[in-house]
Amino acid sequence: MEEYKRLVEEIRNCKKCPLYRTRKNAVPGEGPLDADVMLVGEAPGRKEDEQGRPFVGMAGKLLDAILEKVGMPRITVYITNVVKCRPPGNRDPKPDEIRACLPYLRRQIELVRPKIIVALGRISGKLLFEAAGLRWSGISKERGKLRDARVFGVDVRLIATYHPAAALYNPGLRDSIERDLAVVSRSRREADSRRRGTLEDFF
Ligand code: URA
Ligand code: SF4
Repeated sequence: MEEYKRLVEEIRNCKKCPLYRTRKNAVPGEGPLDADVMLVGEAPGRKEDEQGRPFVGMAGKLLDAILEKVGMPRITVYITNVVKCRPPGNRDPKPDEIRACLPYLRRQIELVRPKIIVALGRISGKLLFEAAGLRWSGISKERGKLRDARVFGVDVRLIATYHPAAALYNPGLRDSIERDLAVVSRSRREADSRRRGTLEDFF
């Protein structure tokens, strides 16, 4: 917990890339530190920058609704982004900015040690697949499949899906995200009952 608080403070005061100049608030991320599912988006948008919290704008509302629908309420997952400060005008984060910010995501993964990591969108998908040494051939090819992977020394199941912002005006993408997150929710429940089963066997 102390280490997590230090990490959050560091992010809030960070000046390691030029994005600090234009941000109102850095957005470290939020959720239970023992969450078994971690969602990784791209970068904060306008609302997130104003509030210092991830996924609180329109895309966030859609994400909340989908999470609720698949039986994995938002408060049960840890949510963060690849880049912690808002790129001006919501442009894509640049490779240098991603590189500068990556140690924070690494420390979050090391601290939370999630069992499942969900990459939301192509930027996050490419980054996490590459971090795991997996080939990335685009979001529409890679989405929806859980893969065993090792990300920053943590053994996880890794899955990519579309970014909820892309689905705001595209019901087809929304259905895909829902299917993909339903896969995650089911996998989490199965792992959970296996864990319980093992404990019951033990006692
Ligand atoms: N889009 C993201 O990728 N992250 C947020 O936190 C909000 C919108
Ligand atoms: Fe620091 Fe990341 Fe914000 Fe850049 S985006 S200033 S590296 S916290």
